Amino acid sequence: MTLDVAALRNDTPGVDHVIHLNNAGASLMPTPVIDAMKRHLELEASIGGYEAAQARAPEFSNLYDETARLVNGDSSEIAFTDSSTVAWDRVVYSLPHKEGDRILTTSSEYGSNWAAYLQLQERYGIKFDVVEDASTGEIDVQALESAIDDRTTLIALNHIPTNGGVVNPAAEVGRIAQAAGVPFLLDACQSVGQLPIDVHEIGCTFLTGTSRKFLRGPRGVGFAWVDHDALLELTPVFADNHSTQVSDTRIVFQPDGRRLESWERSYVNLAGFGAAVTYAQGVGIEQIWDRIRLLAASMRTSLAATHGVEVLDRGSVQGGIVSFRIEGRNAIEVVELLGERGINISHSTINSSPHDMRMRDLDELNRASVHAYNTEAEVEAFLDAVAILAG
Ligand SMILES: Cc1ncc(COP(=O)(O)O)c(C=O)c1O
Repeated sequence: MTLDVAALRNDTPGVDHVIHLNNAGASLMPTPVIDAMKRHLELEASIGGYEAAQARAPEFSNLYDETARLVNGDSSEIAFTDSSTVAWDRVVYSLPHKEGDRILTTSSEYGSNWAAYLQLQERYGIKFDVVEDASTGEIDVQALESAIDDRTTLIALNHIPTNGGVVNPAAEVGRIAQAAGVPFLLDACQSVGQLPIDVHEIGCTFLTGTSRKFLRGPRGVGFAWVDHDALLELTPVFADNHSTQVSDTRIVFQPDGRRLESWERSYVNLAGFGAAVTYAQGVGIEQIWDRIRLLAASMRTSLAATHGVEVLDRGSVQGGIVSFRIEGRNAIEVVELLGERGINISHSTINSSPHDMRMRDLDELNRASVHAYNTEAEVEAFLDAVAILAG
């Protein structure tokens, strides 16, 4: 199947207004997503919010199947939340931490995950250690293997970090985690929708993702996939009358992903998310991945050849996030100046990925992130604008 870029753009009203190179922030939604949300909003407005959810209950139930298919899991293993971080937190805080437990992670771990490790350290006396990177920038799997000891209770890392192109070797990590019998949590926030994901091929125990980035769904939806056996062992950090069967004297957590969910959710957003998953599958995630890599690689090569620009990406496999800095310009200024030319990019700070930024002595960087619907001409326009700023 070849990818029809013109059709993708035809489906994306935003491309008439901006050159959107902030797909790692939130991508431009395609029309089927926008329409699905509008339809559900209108139904809520005309018959009532509860009644609208009830009227479309089979479609909302089907969302679990669709999401499971996206990652090759089972629908009973899916939980929906408001964000990727909430999904990740629900998993991590529901694990039975105790003093001396050890979490192994990677240098480029996301700031919110890092914050949770620090809190768990303070609250339970756990330890968390960063496994060395390979010289090419991704996690060093041999170092990971040697770092695992009998106190290691979790391996948790991002598939693709927020602030650069590196793709961590998730399946190799999974093989090591499984051999050692240590649960493995993959933060796939930046990879889901960008590249094909198969939780069984990866060998993870938990995986978390979001709607709004490379899946091109709306903001406000995240999800977790949790291996069925692991799910039953989690002691969910919250209980409500959706995640449990509650009587006047006791609670029993649901036997499926609902044990990590909350009762209230935005059905409008979920309708959009469902349409985004269907859309991405229809386009073909393998094809999306091929085109993203192509665009990002050419962007990197040209940026690296631009006087006054330094490309900061690492990784022997690189995806759609391109990180760079322009000599003499601060990152926010670059975002603003490109914004004035109708080009959206973003910037990352210490908060985004604290260990990695400190390790590489970076206070900030700029981030341009491509998707399959972006064109070579858009990349050219971005490069021309960068060259002017760097000149
Ligand atoms: C690698 C990574 N993990 C997690 C997150 C958090 O996602 P959310 O904002 O949906 O909680 C992000 C967001 O940018 C991210 O880049």
